[in-house]
Amino acid sequence: MEIKRIYTELKSYKNRDELPAELANLLAIAHQAAENAYAPYSRFKVGAAILLANGKIVIGNNQENAVYPSGLCAERTAAFSASAQFPNIAFKKIAVVAINPEKTQSVPVSPCGSCRQVLLEYEELAKDNIEVILAGEVGEVFVFNRIRDLLPYSFDGSFLPENEI
Ligand code: THU
Repeated sequence: MEIKRIYTELKSYKNRDELPAELANLLAIAHQAAENAYAPYSRFKVGAAILLANGKIVIGNNQENAVYPSGLCAERTAAFSASAQFPNIAFKKIAVVAINPEKTQSVPVSPCGSCRQVLLEYEELAKDNIEVILAGEVGEVFVFNRIRDLLPYSFDGSFLPENEI
């Protein structure tokens, strides 16, 4: 038996002022999207902004429902919208911001497993990394170089049998 370790890394910025301007701009757009989330049940508002290879920015925010599981996270709302509107255009970056109504969110939001899985598929499709910028309303900002770093040892299409098309 041997222990195998999976290595991942992220950059931590003290606050938004330390961020490169392009990332700060995408984060500001995600923050605005979070303000417009439809989250009457959790009251936890999340916004996402995806920068595409064609320069367009597509936003998403969490959309909740009285039937709780029918809602969708901000990241997938943005990703599915981007892929629907701009098929086959690579995602370059995604910024995500969370707003907590009870206490100012100072810890960067952590995307759920399903969103990481969905974003990984788009990263694989484009064969290029998608940079991820994660923030709360204030304070520390995390930047991951790629989705795969958020989802080590992940399942993807390479595990599936070859399709005979
Ligand atoms: N949520 C997101 O939209 N993105 C995340 O990264 C974390 C959680 C949403 C889902 C739900 O509407 C609410 O936040 C509480 O979980």
